[in-house]
Amino acid sequence: MAEGSSIESISHEQRRFVPPKDFAAAAHIRSIEDYEEQYKRSLADPDGFWAEVAADSHFFRKWDRVLQWDPPFAKWFVGATTNVSFNCLDLQLQRGRGDQTAILWEGEPVDAQGRPRDVQRITYRELHRRVCRFANALKSIGVRKGDRVTIYMPMIPELAVAMLACARIGAPHSVVFGGFSATAIVDRVNDAESHVVITADGGWRRGAIVPLKATVDEAAQASPLIRTVVVARRCGQEIAMQPGRDVWWHDIEQGASDDCPAEPLDAEHMLFLLYTSGSTGKPKGILHTTAGYMVFTAYTARLVFDLKPDDVYWCTADIGWITGHSYVVYGILQNGVTTLMYEGAPNFPEWDRFWSIIERHRVTKFYTAPTAIRAFMKQGPQWPNRRDLSSLKLLGTVGEPINPEAWMWYHAHIGTQRCPIVDTWWQTETGGILISPLPGATPTKPGSATRPLFGVDAAILDKSGQEQPANSGGYLCIRRPWPGMLRGIYGDEARFRRQYWSEIPGVYFTGDGARRDADGYFWIMGRVDDVIKVSGHRLGTAEIESVFVAHPKVAEAAVVGFPDEITGEAIAAFITLKTGIAPSPSIKDELSRHVAHTVGAIARPKVIRFTDALPKTRSGKIMRRLLRELATKGTVEGDTTTLEDFGSIARLREEES
Ligand code: PRX
Repeated sequence: MAEGSSIESISHEQRRFVPPKDFAAAAHIRSIEDYEEQYKRSLADPDGFWAEVAADSHFFRKWDRVLQWDPPFAKWFVGATTNVSFNCLDLQLQRGRGDQTAILWEGEPVDAQGRPRDVQRITYRELHRRVCRFANALKSIGVRKGDRVTIYMPMIPELAVAMLACARIGAPHSVVFGGFSATAIVDRVNDAESHVVITADGGWRRGAIVPLKATVDEAAQASPLIRTVVVARRCGQEIAMQPGRDVWWHDIEQGASDDCPAEPLDAEHMLFLLYTSGSTGKPKGILHTTAGYMVFTAYTARLVFDLKPDDVYWCTADIGWITGHSYVVYGILQNGVTTLMYEGAPNFPEWDRFWSIIERHRVTKFYTAPTAIRAFMKQGPQWPNRRDLSSLKLLGTVGEPINPEAWMWYHAHIGTQRCPIVDTWWQTETGGILISPLPGATPTKPGSATRPLFGVDAAILDKSGQEQPANSGGYLCIRRPWPGMLRGIYGDEARFRRQYWSEIPGVYFTGDGARRDADGYFWIMGRVDDVIKVSGHRLGTAEIESVFVAHPKVAEAAVVGFPDEITGEAIAAFITLKTGIAPSPSIKDELSRHVAHTVGAIARPKVIRFTDALPKTRSGKIMRRLLRELATKGTVEGDTTTLEDFGSIARLREEES
C-alpha cells in the first residue's frame, strides 16, 4: 500500500441530476425507492435474490446450491451445468431473436466520401452458425475442453466468434490486447500454458496496418509452447506462414460442420483468464468461471444500460480488456440486443468518427472512457455538433474517475442534456459492474459512481476493518461475495490471498481509495497501491521498472504516475544509468522505445528523468511519494524526514530548472 495512509478527498461537487421522467417511466428500475427496496432485499436474502436472477438464464442442469462460500473461495450455482455461448446464441434463437443483428461491425478504412468501406451486420442466426463452424474447426486442430487458447486480434467480428467458440467447447480463452508487444504475449502464453494462438494478418489503426501476425511470429520464436497459430485474414497484405505451425482460419473452417452443440459445463468451469497489472512486477491471470460470470454480466448489463430489444448498444472498449469481455460480448449478447464493434481509432479520418458512427447506425446506448471524453473535449464541440446524435438514450463511462468538467461536457454535447449518464465502477477482478447509477432511478452527481448494485455490499473501511463515517476517505472494500467475482489468480493462490483478502481480513480489498458521502454515494479517488491508470489502462509501476532495468544501460529505475489532462495519469520514470554512461536525449529515446517495444505503446513514459541516485529511505525503499510530488509539482514540500540522501532530491530539482 502507498506510504501515508490518510486519504483526503478534495472534491466538493454539489450538482445533482435526476433521471428524465420519460426514461424512468419505461426503465427496468423506475425510482430510487424501488432501488432501495430491492437493494435491501438482495442483501437480506442473497441466495433467493440470485436464484431469481439466474432463472432468466439457461441451465442444462439446475444448481443444488446458490452459493458455497469458503472464504476467500466462492462457488456459485453449485452443481449446475450451463454454457455461456449457448446463452449468448442458442437461447436467443429460442427466444425468436434469430433475425436480430447481434454484431454490427464497422472497420476503420473509409472511401473518398468518408464512408466506411467495411460494415457487417451479423444476425444471431448467422453468428450462431459462424461460432459453431469455428468451434468445430478448433476441435479439428486438437483443441479440447480445458485447453487454454490465446487470442490476439484486432476488433473484428472474428474476435467475438473465437471467444464464443472457445466458450462453446469449454476451452478457456486468454485474450491479449492487440496493442501489446510480443513479450506480453510470451509471458501470458507461458503462464497459461497455452499451445494455440488465434490472430489475424493485421488490423487497421489510424490508416495503417498493425502487423499482428508478425508480432505473434516474434512471440512464437521466444515461446516453444506455441504449436499452432490460427490466422484470420483481415488486411490481406502479404504475410509469412510457417508450415506445420500456421494455419488460415478460412482453411480450417473449410468443411467444418455448422452443427456443434454447446458443451454442458460445470458452473465453476474456467471461462477465461485475463491478465492484468498489479503492484508487483508480473501480470496476473485473473480467473473467471462460467455460471456466476454469465448471470452477473447479463443482469448488470440489463439494469445499468437499461437494455431493451431494439437497442443498438456501443461500448468503445477493446475486447482485449475486461470491459470488452463483459460489455461488448458476454453481457450484451445474452440480452439479445445489437452490440456494435468498431475496429479503429476515434480520430480517423477525423475527430468526428465516433459521432458519425452513432449517427449512421442510430446508436441508442453509448459506453466509453473518461480519457476519450477529455480528448474529444479538447477538440471542441463542433465535431459532435455537426452530427445527429438524437438516437442516443443513455451514456456510460468506465475505467477511471471522471472529472466533473468532463462529465458536464459529455452531458451537454453528447447527451444533449437528455441522456442519463451511468458512471460505472468495477475492475477486471469483479467481472462486472458493482457500483453505478441505475439510469431510471438514481439521481446522479457528476464524478460519483453513486450507489452499489443489488447484492453488492460495498463499504469504506480503514486498515483495521472499521467502517468510516460519511465523507471520510478510506479503502473501498466489498464485504460479501458476488457471482461475477474472480475465483483466483491462475496458478498463484498465495498471491490471490495476499492481494485481495489480507489487507483487511475477511473482505475483498479493491485497491481503490474512496469516500462515501452523506447520501451513501461513492466517490472513487483512485488507486492506493502502485498501480497507475493511463487512459484507463492499468499498468503496474513495478512492471515498467523491471522493463527499464532489463535494459543494459540502466542501473536503477523508479516509475510513478502523475496527473495528465487527457490520459488521467501519465508515466514519469526516474532512471539511474550504469556507471560510465552519460545521460543524453538519445538515451531517453532509446529507453522510451524499449518500453514501448517490450510492453506496448500505452506504457511509453511521458517523462524520463536521469538522476545519479533515487531518493530512498534509510531502509532502502524508494520514496515514490516524493517522486510523485516532484513529477506533479516540480518540487518537494512534503515530509522528507525519512529520506537517506537529501542531495538526491536537490539534484533532481536542479535538473528540472
Ligand atoms: O481504480 C479503479 C478504476 O479502474 C480500476 C480497475 O481497472 P481495470 O481492472 O483495468 O478495469 C477497468 C474497467 C472495469 C479500479 O480499481 N476504475 C474503474 N472504473 C472506475 C474507476 N475509477 C473511478 N470510477 C470508475 N467508474
